Amino acid sequence: MQDFKADFSLASGSYLLSHSVGRPLKSAEQVFSKQFFAPWQDSNVEPWQQWLKVIDLFCFNLAKLFNGRIEEFCPQVNLSSALTKLVMSLDELNDKFGAKNPVVLMSELDFPSMGFALKKALPQGCELRFIPKTLDITDAAVWQSYIRSDVDLVFISHVYSNTGQLAPLNEIVEAAKSKAALTLIDVAQSAGIVPLDLGHLQPDFMIGSSVKWLCGGPGAAYLWVNTKHIERCQPKDVGWFSHENPFEFDIHDFRYHPTALKFWGGTPSIAPYAIAAQSIGYFADIGSDKLRGHNQALIDIATEQLAEVFVSPMQESRRSGTMILDFGTKQQKVLEALQQANVNVDLRSEGIRVSPHIYNDMADIENLIAGIKRI
Ligand SMILES: Cc1ncc(COP(=O)(O)O)c(C=O)c1O
Repeated sequence: MQDFKADFSLASGSYLLSHSVGRPLKSAEQVFSKQFFAPWQDSNVEPWQQWLKVIDLFCFNLAKLFNGRIEEFCPQVNLSSALTKLVMSLDELNDKFGAKNPVVLMSELDFPSMGFALKKALPQGCELRFIPKTLDITDAAVWQSYIRSDVDLVFISHVYSNTGQLAPLNEIVEAAKSKAALTLIDVAQSAGIVPLDLGHLQPDFMIGSSVKWLCGGPGAAYLWVNTKHIERCQPKDVGWFSHENPFEFDIHDFRYHPTALKFWGGTPSIAPYAIAAQSIGYFADIGSDKLRGHNQALIDIATEQLAEVFVSPMQESRRSGTMILDFGTKQQKVLEALQQANVNVDLRSEGIRVSPHIYNDMADIENLIAGIKRI
C-alpha cells in the first residue's frame, strides 16, 4: 500500500483543514522549478512553447479526474471570475436569456461570492431565486419542488462548505433536464474528494478550483463547458488567447477558439497551473473513489465517539468530506484546546470544520478526539 502521507509536506501535528487549503506535494517545488523556471532561466529561447504545455497538462489531468474531454476545460483565475464570464456568455446559448425575467435558482447555503457574481453578471430583470437555508439541501425532493418550469439555470454546489452537506447531484440534474433548465455545478469543495463523472452525469457547466482537496494552491481554477454548448457560448471578456489562432494578430478579425479556451482571455498566467497540474494528476491517478473511501472511513471512526456533537449529516449519501462539530457555548474552548494539541481545524457559522484527507490517518482522528475530550 502506497504511503500517501510521505508524499506531502506536513508539519508536525494533525492537519485537518483540506476544505480550506490542501497540503502541497513534496515534489511540487521541484516540478514548479522544472516546468516554470527552467524554460525561462536556462536558455534564451522564448519560453511560451514550454509554458503552454503546462496548460495542456492541466486540462488533460482535469479531464482524467472528472471524465470530461480536454477541449471542454478552460483555465480560470477563480470561481467568481469563471462564473461571471460564463453567465455573460449565455445570452446566445439560451433563448430565454434574451427574453424577460429569466430565473436562476441557487441556495442560501452557496458560497456568498457565487451570489455576488451572479447578481452582478446576470442580465437586468433576471430573478435570482433562493432555496432557503432552513430546508434540507441534501433532500432531492426539496430540489424537485424548486425546479419548476420557469427556472432557466440551476446553480448547484456539489458540497456546502459550512454545513458539510452533499447535494443529490444525479436527481438535481435529472430534474433540471426534465424542465429544460441548464445546470451549473460548483465543485470547489468536492474536487479531489467526492467522485464526479461528467461524461456520465452530463450537466451543462462546471466551475472549480485546485486550492482545497486537490492541494494545487490558489490561482488555478477552471471552467468546464459541455461540448454541446461550446459553439454557441459567446464570452464577452475575451483576449488574444480566446482567439482561434492567438498568433494571427489581425485586429479586425476576432474569431472564437473552437474549444472551451474561448473563455481564456489575455496573456495567461502559468505558475499556479504548473503546481496544480501535477497535483491534479496525482489525485486522478489515485482515483476519487479511493479518496472518498479513505475520507469516509475516518469520518466513520469519528462518528463513533463524537456522535452527539455532529451537526453535519451522518448518512454517507448526504455528507461531504468535512464533518462539522458543534460544542455550543464551549465552541471557542474546544477550538483553543485543539490548537494547543496541534490539531488544525477552523470554525464557521455551524461549528468546527474537520476534513480528513488521504494524508490523514487514525492517529489524526485519535488526536482530534483526545483534544476534544480534554474539555
Ligand atoms: C463552495 C465554494 N465555492 C466557491 C468558493 C471560492 O470561490 P472563488 O474561487 O471565487 O474565491 C469556495 C471557497 O471557499 C467555496 O467553498
